Amino acid sequence: MDTHVIQTENLTKSYGTRIAVNHLNLTVEAKQIHGFLGPNGAGKTTTIKMLVGLLRPDSGSLKILGMNAAGDKPRIRERIGYMPELPKFPKHLTGEELLDVYGRMYNIPKETRRKRIPELLKMVGLEGRGRDRIGKYSKGMQQRIGIAQALLNDPELVILDEPSIGLDPVGMVEVRDMVKEIVKGGQTVFFSSHLLAEVQQICDHVSIINNGNMLFTGTLDEVASKAGPSRRLVLEVQKASDSILHALKALSFATVNTNDNTYTLHLKTKDDVRAEISRAVSAAGGVILRMQEEGGGLEDAFMSLVGKEAE
Ligand SMILES: Nc1ncnc2c1ncn2[C@@H]1O[C@H](COP(=O)(O)OP(=O)(O)O)[C@@H](O)[C@H]1O
Ligand SMILES: [Mg+2]
Repeated sequence: MDTHVIQTENLTKSYGTRIAVNHLNLTVEAKQIHGFLGPNGAGKTTTIKMLVGLLRPDSGSLKILGMNAAGDKPRIRERIGYMPELPKFPKHLTGEELLDVYGRMYNIPKETRRKRIPELLKMVGLEGRGRDRIGKYSKGMQQRIGIAQALLNDPELVILDEPSIGLDPVGMVEVRDMVKEIVKGGQTVFFSSHLLAEVQQICDHVSIINNGNMLFTGTLDEVASKAGPSRRLVLEVQKASDSILHALKALSFATVNTNDNTYTLHLKTKDDVRAEISRAVSAAGGVILRMQEEGGGLEDAFMSLVGKEAE
């Protein structure tokens, strides 16, 4: 059995001369919560629109649930759920009516719709609000009805484009809980975000994209370690001096910034160089009060990957 829920090869899309998605190889396995992380304009929405069949790729191949996106579009659509970025729904419909319209589109029988719609409203925290018009919904409620809509056909794969954009912190926590709830049902979730913290809190896997290029894909830990973040050592001395600075600058494996009695060394090596630093400072007549490693982790990886790409 094919466990690849999403598999793209060299997926490419340009708008005019601007390459929005560039030879993207993306693999998402069954039951993952897979975050699609990148700054604004990275190419996330363009990729997602190709995944759900709203945009035609210029080149490359694309398989969803083992089916070829080009030939099997209607069959794929039955088995995936999709929430667009900032969904806009007709304001005059109530939440229930909206879900019913979508349910009919998916050919969900009336009896099933009658049972499923209240369940979904409850799941996304809109219990009791199903009879209100969407025009009266807050931004957060509109996102939630969007998530409910994406779950209507009990999809195997749920694709959410920036589900928590425009939400306040409470709304973001709620979305996070909803996503975790979805996965409990054995479904796969692929969602985009420009927020590292969000991805870190929800996902087990992450693909980082910038300028249309895949920078890294793997588990959160793999991304954090393999991306090779720059390491920093923060060094606090009793009294800064020119000779200490001189000694530190002479070290071949680091560059130095200084601020009062603190030196920050940006290490170019992965070796443990603390003893060497300590000797250099002592030889220059300095006394070290504190030596601490900073950075590392996904945040540094993300910043260094995105930063490198921008250069
Ligand atoms: N309809 C469009 N016409 C022209 N350029 C577009 C269009 N949609 C997106 N782009 C450009 O393609 C790039 C990727 O955009 P997008 O996929 O929306 O990124 P993201 O969702 O990561 O913010 C950006 O440079 C954006 O300006
Ligand atoms: Mg987008």
